Amino acid sequence: MKQDMIVILDLGSTENTTIARAIRALGVYSEIHPHDITLEELRALPNVKGVILNGGPNRVVDGAAVDVAPAVYGCGVPTLAVDHPGAQGEVLASWPEGQAACMEALKAFVFGRCQAQANWNMENFIADQVELIRRQVGDRKVLLALSGGVDSSVVAALLIKAIGKQLTCVHVNHGLLRKGEPEQVVEVFRNQMEANLVYVDAVDRFLGKLAGVEDPEQKRKIIGAEFIRVFEEEARKLDGIEFLGQGTIYPDIIESGTKTVKAVKSHHNVGGLPEDLDFALVEPLKMLFKDEVRACGKALGLPDGMVYRQPFPGPGLGVRCLGAITRDRLEAVRESDAILREEFANAGLEGKVWQYFTVVPDFKSVGVRDGKRTFDWPVILRAVNTIDAMTATVEDVPFALLQKITGRITHEVPGVNRVLYDLTPKPSGTIEWE
Ligand code: XMP
Repeated sequence: MKQDMIVILDLGSTENTTIARAIRALGVYSEIHPHDITLEELRALPNVKGVILNGGPNRVVDGAAVDVAPAVYGCGVPTLAVDHPGAQGEVLASWPEGQAACMEALKAFVFGRCQAQANWNMENFIADQVELIRRQVGDRKVLLALSGGVDSSVVAALLIKAIGKQLTCVHVNHGLLRKGEPEQVVEVFRNQMEANLVYVDAVDRFLGKLAGVEDPEQKRKIIGAEFIRVFEEEARKLDGIEFLGQGTIYPDIIESGTKTVKAVKSHHNVGGLPEDLDFALVEPLKMLFKDEVRACGKALGLPDGMVYRQPFPGPGLGVRCLGAITRDRLEAVRESDAILREEFANAGLEGKVWQYFTVVPDFKSVGVRDGKRTFDWPVILRAVNTIDAMTATVEDVPFALLQKITGRITHEVPGVNRVLYDLTPKPSGTIEWE
């Protein structure tokens, strides 16, 4: 194994992420683990050079006082107790008030007492994960649902590097993906990376189930349930699969104070697959932050368009084709979204605006084209910025660009005669319309 590691044990602090990121910023790999880790589990982690007991002032998780097993104190590597005056080891001032002092104390611990090397980089991370995946999987087989989103794509690329044809990827095209996405998944993974890729054209099936369904939550439920059904059917066709690859990343695992331990475990109820499909999980990205996942994808040779893509909801264009989905309006969403993305990229806004997309409502308005009356759909443009998606502000898109996009959409997208720009921040609107 190439990387040294500092382990953070979560004893109810809300600053685990801050400390992990601070250590990684020093060039040393750091992982967060639950407080109830056993000495054996701790010893099984590779290259541990030091352990931080991160308690917060009270060491409370879910209302109960916690501590690590006494044996962990004698684990054989230096320990550092953070924010807990009664504990062994040094005491750090609390984050973020004591930020500079904390960094100095961390540095002294990591490089002084632990003698860790600053050898955390993507090349070493990938090399270590490849070794760990091979150790876990041996000569057995892994299945992965590959949506083409950042996380599943990066896991796929990492698993392909580690175990090649022992991995089978299943890409379900539910008809609600953006223009060109299913084709890109096939091109990158089947043609370029030579992966086993099962491509499932489930467009008619999904649109059939969604026909006439107006309620957004009902639409979400149908899309989610149908996805599991299709994936399960494909899984049953394959022999001898023992593992399920998962694109779990660190932000999926909620901090303690807000229940790390439980959240880590609840993750194991993968997407509601039936119990007789009893897979063990392979989750090589579960300790990476989103920017690190992107860096990993880039280092594995994935195209920028795949690695730096904006967030895209699971139900896809299904919640942007408002009300009951029809094929003509769905195509209008897909085509107008492609134009918006192309024009934002041309204007240098790609990667600068957090999320942008189009919406097609289920009402028509009167217009005129070539001297004739039209009665067609409007397209709504949405472009927002946010830190955490809880609140959002509207991007101040130059008027000339809005005019250009309007011209292209009304000329190029069949059945559309108007374009509107949504000026509503969150709150009072949400980012999506449904
Ligand atoms: P809202 O509309 O709630 O969206 O302001 C916040 C962020 O969440 C995304 N979003 C979803 N993502 N499944 C997802 O995976 C969903 O059902 C869903 N609904 C909204 C949305 O795109 C935005 O980034």
